[in-house]
Amino acid sequence: MSESNIESILQEKRLFPPTAAFSQNAQIKSLEEYQQLCDRANSDPQKFWAELAEQELHWFQKWDTVLDWQPPFAKWFVGGKTNISYNCLDRHLTTWRKNKAALIWEGEPGDSRTLTYAQLHLEVCQFANVLKQLGVVKGDRVGIYMPMIPEAAIAMLACARIGAAHSVVFGGFSAEALRDRLIDVEAKVVITADGGWRKGAIVPLKEQVDKALANNVVPTVTSVLVVQRTKQSVEMQPERDFWWHELQKTVSADCPAEPMDSEDMLFVLYTSGSTGKPKGVVHTTGGYNLYTHITTKWIFDLQDTDVYWCTADVGWITGHSYIVYGPLSNGATTLMYEGAPRASNPGCMWDVIEKYGVTVFYTAPTAIRAFIKMGEQLPNARNLSSLRLLGTVGEPINPEAWIWYQRVVGGGRCPIVDTWWQTETGGIMITPLPGAIATKPGSATRPFPGIMADVVDLEGNPVGDNEGGYLVIRHPWPGMMRTVYGDDERFRRTYWEHLPPTNGQYVYFAGDGARRDEDGYFWVMGRVDDVLNVSGHRLGTMEVESALVSHPAVAEAAVVSKPDEIKGEEIVAFITLEGTYSPSDKLSKELKQHVVKEIGAIARPGVIRFTDALPKTRSGKIMRRLLRNLASGQEITGDTSTLEDRGVLDKLRGEG
Ligand code: WTA
Repeated sequence: MSESNIESILQEKRLFPPTAAFSQNAQIKSLEEYQQLCDRANSDPQKFWAELAEQELHWFQKWDTVLDWQPPFAKWFVGGKTNISYNCLDRHLTTWRKNKAALIWEGEPGDSRTLTYAQLHLEVCQFANVLKQLGVVKGDRVGIYMPMIPEAAIAMLACARIGAAHSVVFGGFSAEALRDRLIDVEAKVVITADGGWRKGAIVPLKEQVDKALANNVVPTVTSVLVVQRTKQSVEMQPERDFWWHELQKTVSADCPAEPMDSEDMLFVLYTSGSTGKPKGVVHTTGGYNLYTHITTKWIFDLQDTDVYWCTADVGWITGHSYIVYGPLSNGATTLMYEGAPRASNPGCMWDVIEKYGVTVFYTAPTAIRAFIKMGEQLPNARNLSSLRLLGTVGEPINPEAWIWYQRVVGGGRCPIVDTWWQTETGGIMITPLPGAIATKPGSATRPFPGIMADVVDLEGNPVGDNEGGYLVIRHPWPGMMRTVYGDDERFRRTYWEHLPPTNGQYVYFAGDGARRDEDGYFWVMGRVDDVLNVSGHRLGTMEVESALVSHPAVAEAAVVSKPDEIKGEEIVAFITLEGTYSPSDKLSKELKQHVVKEIGAIARPGVIRFTDALPKTRSGKIMRRLLRNLASGQEITGDTSTLEDRGVLDKLRGEG
């Protein structure tokens, strides 16, 4: 976050209490009710979660043990048998919801589709039977590389139905990034589409899958299932590639949900860390189902008449938890949108709200800042009166953006839930409950009941009110990640041994800086490690650096970020070149393009700065702090005495 944002957040004192009208009908109606839930959860966490699991989910068989905690490894509802696809579909079919819209889809070139719970169930069963036909069995992993179409959600639910773990890879990732993830997760089948629509152009997803699988570098993959979306012609490799619409005709619609152990793996989702390759975050069945269910219900205050729209992509955790699993488990109507604002349709988001009467809208601060830039005449020209609740996620929201969102989109009447969480946490951790907690612009407010969040120093000691520190969680919760796929040690090291245990108790280290104010409200300040947040997307500096040094011209690369008005952060890469190359605009463009090819467009550096040398310590460590200062045009602050060669800094400054 930029200095000016931090400044304005530090001075932010405005308080927005829930209105009586909202609180009256809310799931959680008052601060007292919230407090009671917290007290119950804190005094007996296992009882609290067990009661909810019993009330809110269907179990084929009840658990024997609520929590088996062998730090840092947790098992929830041990011995219980359930299926998240059953909880999201089958159990609604015996109620009036059978014919309620489960999924509303608005496609980019004007296509649209609505699937009732009965229809969604039918397609998921067929899809699951097709996967079985392709040899997928319980325990296998399936890669999903899809545009934002209903079949993305159908594929996820189909995997869950037969007990295969899915690993969704965001459709904006490159063939190389896809390949790395498919190799790591040892996928048996890849589900993709002939293409997807993105800002008026076709994204050639199938072609990328072909590249990722070329030369049999992912030997575990035996089949590719292709959904027809754009109808552009694609190459189909005999015996490996199959069309979904063709196989769909060959299967029955009968596919009972497989009773899964509560701790069976549900999915692996890759996310960036400060070191090494992206990690496969593992989530399991019962705990994740309960946590996404109850957070969706209480935070988005779901009512039966709601039309709920989360604008994330299913390739990210937000899409998993709050487009697919959380809303469907609650029997809600969830909206999926393939489009994005562009010059020819800058008001498209508002059109969607108006067209479907969206009541709950959940988006990212970066999107809000882009809306502000496009001008309030766009939302003002539409009827947004159906909206009753707004949410944000992905990065700290600056108070100006919060206030604009509240006033222009929410018409001054909608509460805003600023939700802090991570891929690793499975669901929302710190957030207002909209009928209960007064909000402050820029603060995610208070922990969800049962979440024991704290702010500590490097020794693990709690810091005082308004003192900055590291955000930690003290007690396991049902939605927490279970491990890094194939790497328990990395899981332990990254999240649980970063800070020393307090009174012998392991604490979960989130990687974010935060402070807690005198009212117990949390203010999350952003990452304290080498993880960047560009437009709400998480990227590791190391990943971008490795992509850059894989180009023959690059000798060394150091990647930092600078504040950006819309994106939050922008990538700045400092580069030293191999002897025979010299700096040029052409090379700069080529390097940016190279990163796009290696990772995807979300990682494209905004600025490339060529330099003769990078500032390093005597032991050879790159001094990123100095580069961050330089990148954002600030004075160099702090100690520079460890710098090996001061001349390097002077030269870099000269260029800046
Ligand atoms: C950041 C996205 C401030 C944070 C769900 C976290 C936030 C990272 C907020 C996780 C928020 C997310 N306020 N910062 N409301 N929400 N973050 O794994 O730095 O893609 O660690 O999960 O996003 O990103 P991830």
